[in-house]
Amino acid sequence: MTKKHVILTGDRPTGKLHIGHYVGSLKNRVALQNTGDYETYIMIADMQALTDNARDPEKIRHSLLQVALDYLAVGIDPAKSTILVQSQIPALNELTMAYLNLVSVSRLNRNPTVKSEIKQKAFGESVPAGFFIYPVSQAADITAFKADTVPVGEDQEPMLEQTREIVRSFNNIYQQEILVEPEGYFPPKGQGRIPGLDGNAKMSKSLDNAIYLGDSADAVQKKVMSMYTDPEHVHIEDPGHIEGNTVFTYLDIFADDTAHVAELKAQYQHGGLGDVKIKRYLNEVLQAKLQPIRERREQYAANEDAVYDILKQGSEKANQVAAQTLHEVRHAIGIDYFG
Ligand code: TRP
Repeated sequence: MTKKHVILTGDRPTGKLHIGHYVGSLKNRVALQNTGDYETYIMIADMQALTDNARDPEKIRHSLLQVALDYLAVGIDPAKSTILVQSQIPALNELTMAYLNLVSVSRLNRNPTVKSEIKQKAFGESVPAGFFIYPVSQAADITAFKADTVPVGEDQEPMLEQTREIVRSFNNIYQQEILVEPEGYFPPKGQGRIPGLDGNAKMSKSLDNAIYLGDSADAVQKKVMSMYTDPEHVHIEDPGHIEGNTVFTYLDIFADDTAHVAELKAQYQHGGLGDVKIKRYLNEVLQAKLQPIRERREQYAANEDAVYDILKQGSEKANQVAAQTLHEVRHAIGIDYFG
């Protein structure tokens, strides 16, 4: 029997997940899980979330449950995927310490994702050391499970590059092929990113421009009706622009009836199609996609104990796998003095 591919992926629990997460990675994960070709681990990275939220642990505690609900709601199935909580896997910390010796400070300084996050978070001179090194801890997350496939958004590519470097150094220095080099698995070009409701390139909680997977039908409708379209499209008769028009960007991503979308586009560009109409159509499309997700979310939310139980069982299983890798790593380094 050939060995199954292994998936490891995860999210920081700093809030509820939104439809940007859905198109950027969750959808991919569910599809991969359902192929049956992968051993799948999905991590709620609470320790990583603490690297820039140490003073607000309550936010992380609360978001942990929210993220778990979002996972279950979109169809991540605990019978097929192991959902685990990072802080419950002590081996990850030991692996991180071992890997930190294989990475230079200047190399960490060059990580473009971390660089832009540092700027955006306005840490000033007080970048938490744990935050600065989180790409190394992420390498521990990935390698602990010997994952070869990491389905994430494109902003995570630098983490994968860092992980591959660590794997190569480790295997090379300690002369054992223990760790596995991972590949990213990204959404098809142009499909992994969804702009915010306001037309901003990024959908995010801090910009307050997101539709959440748990939003009520009313909330979704209100948000859709407030979306950014074409500022030059003032009167219904005016010809409108498709390019940069958030409603059409969303329709391209979510609508299954592409022929109808093409018709609407032609009409809009010609003039005579109002924003309210296209927003109503988008609302219909989104409601149809989000309703089953919302319903499943509510079912699980009514039984929190069962959700925590899923996380506990997943973490226990993950713990065994990570402990085995740590055992091999200690042996390779030669620090397993007492057998
Ligand atoms: N850094 C990821 C994010 O911001 C979360 C994460 C933590 C992760 N550990 C991981 C992703 C391991 C993939 C693999 O979303």
